[in-house]
Amino acid sequence: MPNRRSSSTTHSRAAVAVLGLGPMGRALALALLAAGHPTTVWNRTPGRDAEALAHGARSAASPAEAVADAPLVLLCVRDQEAARAVLDAAGPALRGRTVVNATSVTPDDARANATDALAHGHHLLDAAILTPTRTIGRPEATVLFSGPAETFAAHRETFAALGTARHVGEDPGRAAAFDAAVLDLFWTTVHGYLHALALARAEGITGAELAPYAQGLPLLLPPLIEDYAHRADTHHHPGDRSTLASAAAGLAHVTHTARTRGLDTTVLEAALTLTRRAVTAGHGPSGVSTLVDHLAAPRQ
Ligand SMILES: NC(=O)c1ccc[n+]([C@@H]2O[C@H](COP(=O)([O-])OP(=O)(O)OC[C@H]3O[C@@H](n4cnc5c(N)ncnc54)[C@H](OP(=O)(O)O)[C@@H]3O)[C@@H](O)[C@H]2O)c1
Repeated sequence: MPNRRSSSTTHSRAAVAVLGLGPMGRALALALLAAGHPTTVWNRTPGRDAEALAHGARSAASPAEAVADAPLVLLCVRDQEAARAVLDAAGPALRGRTVVNATSVTPDDARANATDALAHGHHLLDAAILTPTRTIGRPEATVLFSGPAETFAAHRETFAALGTARHVGEDPGRAAAFDAAVLDLFWTTVHGYLHALALARAEGITGAELAPYAQGLPLLLPPLIEDYAHRADTHHHPGDRSTLASAAAGLAHVTHTARTRGLDTTVLEAALTLTRRAVTAGHGPSGVSTLVDHLAAPRQ
């Protein structure tokens, strides 16, 4: 729970409407309340506002009612379809307001929402929340915003109540693009670990036995993340410490082991196919980071 400020600050802060009270919407509303922002909340299914109300929120019966007294609207629902449903329900009540869409959407959806906002007379920032609910209201929360810089600047103080707020560009899709890239890393990493647990189990190794060795892997990542980022930006992939050809051989034996144990190898096969294609194209002596360039190449 974020720290509550004294009630004497309450009325000097900007009023905010929070639309959507799932776990993240609730966390956002509580952080705003803790920072002294008069906060009105709405959720499609009634009864999810008890905690926010207990911390001083006002409840609204509809999106239009919620935004009536709030120049800033924070929208946080499941997905683009839900976000569109709420925006459409609020309709003309949004005119002149700033809507921050903190719903996870694709970069193209964020751009389409910005175009729609222009047509309907409200300002829109897209926000990508990169950290879980427990961080919200604390500096360790990372929230990226994209859209007009002056709109971000106008509400910067309010955004600071949510955590570390950064403006990443005027292109409305840019925050969602960061989000997609980070989630790409997250989900492939999580999937990799789950697959490793299944492979270990098939070989009679328990999760508890594997875990200490799996723990060592993330420790290798921070320098590798920096190094690969530099290689990606410079398109320079030296194979002095390990080569793609060697990685292909390693991936092949992991895939073979998983296959012979009857595990689903769809993801491993995809990684192996991509790696072999790059080797065939002549990148075998390069470092494995060369794949970042090969991924962007048109398929044959
Ligand atoms: N939870 C996290 O740690 C986290 C972290 C980063 C980003 N996010 C993003 O934050 C957003 C919200 O996530 P969440 O964790 O709060 O839970 P969620 O389960 O993704 O979303 C639940 C919210 O969406 C609403 N909703 C769903 N369909 C709707 C529709 N058709 N019309 C109106 N409202 C609709 C729900 O209303 P009802 O109560 O009526 O069903 C509820 O308020 C998501 O885009 C998620 O990716 C979450």
